[in-house]
Amino acid sequence: LTPHNDTDSAPDAILGSLKHPRMTGIPAGTSPYAAAPPFQQPTPLCSFSFDEQRRLWQDDRCKRFYRGPPAYTNRHPVQTRAPAVFGADLNYAMDRYVQRDESMPEHLDALVAALQHRTETASAEVRDEVDQERRRAGVVTWRGIITKICTAYEQSASARFADPLDLNAMMVDGTLYLEEHVSASARAEKQRKEADAAMKRFGYYGYAFESYCTVDDAAQVSHARSNDGEPEGWSGDVNTNVQWCCVVKTKLGSNRLIIGGEVDAVLPSHHGREEMVELKTSMQITSAHRNAAKAAVEQERFEKKLLKFFLQSYLLGIGKIVVGFRDFHGLLTTHQEFETLRIPRMVRAGHPVPGQFDAGGQPVLRERSVWEPKDTLGFGDQILSFIRDVVSKHTASSPPADDVDGKIEHAVFRVTFHAPFEHVEIRALSQSE
Ligand code: A3P
Ligand code: MG
Ligand code: MG
Repeated sequence: LTPHNDTDSAPDAILGSLKHPRMTGIPAGTSPYAAAPPFQQPTPLCSFSFDEQRRLWQDDRCKRFYRGPPAYTNRHPVQTRAPAVFGADLNYAMDRYVQRDESMPEHLDALVAALQHRTETASAEVRDEVDQERRRAGVVTWRGIITKICTAYEQSASARFADPLDLNAMMVDGTLYLEEHVSASARAEKQRKEADAAMKRFGYYGYAFESYCTVDDAAQVSHARSNDGEPEGWSGDVNTNVQWCCVVKTKLGSNRLIIGGEVDAVLPSHHGREEMVELKTSMQITSAHRNAAKAAVEQERFEKKLLKFFLQSYLLGIGKIVVGFRDFHGLLTTHQEFETLRIPRMVRAGHPVPGQFDAGGQPVLRERSVWEPKDTLGFGDQILSFIRDVVSKHTASSPPADDVDGKIEHAVFRVTFHAPFEHVEIRALSQSE
């Protein structure tokens, strides 16, 4: 079902264009959306795994269980400035880091395969339910795509950090399938980043944190940590081919969604349902006692990052986010658990800013929100409806043509978010491209 067409140029006429709300003349600092669109609690439909060789399995063999990082009892061999003690060393086993070959585009294949439940074990009822949900869905895509669409709302303000975003879109039986189109220039930029030793190291830290925090068997969660010559808590070397993914159904505003995304771990539950956990690493925040100005800048930077953490988890129904804070050398100094649903309140106007107190020792309250979920979610709902409208109109006017093999060719559209993001444009990609 994925567009096989992979060109960068899209010379065809623009079929639709939508301005960023900021480009429509609304005053700065005001919200274009009165309220957040209704969001339905995501319900799991199915799950699948990728193994060490990137083979796809319609089962949970790569699911991980959250145990938490090892204790903060390591001491620096040489007396340095604080912290005096630290936890896991996230540099461990970097020489054995196996990275997935991302030059192989995977499109929506794994997600579509999961929805087609090519598994012998699924019961007839489960198959029927998944079929029915797939037919009812307005949009089928990866969770990361919805996150990118929603966060594009925040991008027009800071052009320096704006990422261009190109999507391929295809309408099949009334359901919009969306995948990212990685342009040649975006791919070159990605390869440049991957070749950068520091970027590779920071990327590794995130996965090393996952190894320290998780185990592959629920029974091991409460067991003592073994360490056969390995650091305490280490559960195996990093191979980014390995993933466990969940597919959920949900509804954002008027858009019924089926989205798939990686889930880092689950908390073993005693009452049936397991709670999903997202793991993140971040640079530690300077203590406000040591340097108040620096602390404030770092705190704000972290809170901006929380938008991505929040959306990524909220969209799949992941209830808990555990952030591991590390120092510049990759040593874990602390970790903090966040309830996904409480994050918007933390960054909202009127809420105390962590670590900041006035002359009288009272907490400093925020004057304005760092971000508002209603803006990014409202924007995501608006863009998804816009893409569905334009693509469905132009798909209906050019019904799929049977090609020589009798295979049905559906029209493919390119959705372009320009950076800095001022408007989104939709064009048709001609079949010859
Ligand atoms: P951190 O989250 O600790 O940064 P995810 O958090 O989505 O489960 O991803 C796991 C790790 O993959 C990340 O750890 C990071 O190291 C790496 N990663 C994810 N998205 C990335 C991106 N867009 N660019 C670079 N690295 C990324
Ligand atoms: Mg992950
Ligand atoms: Mg993660």
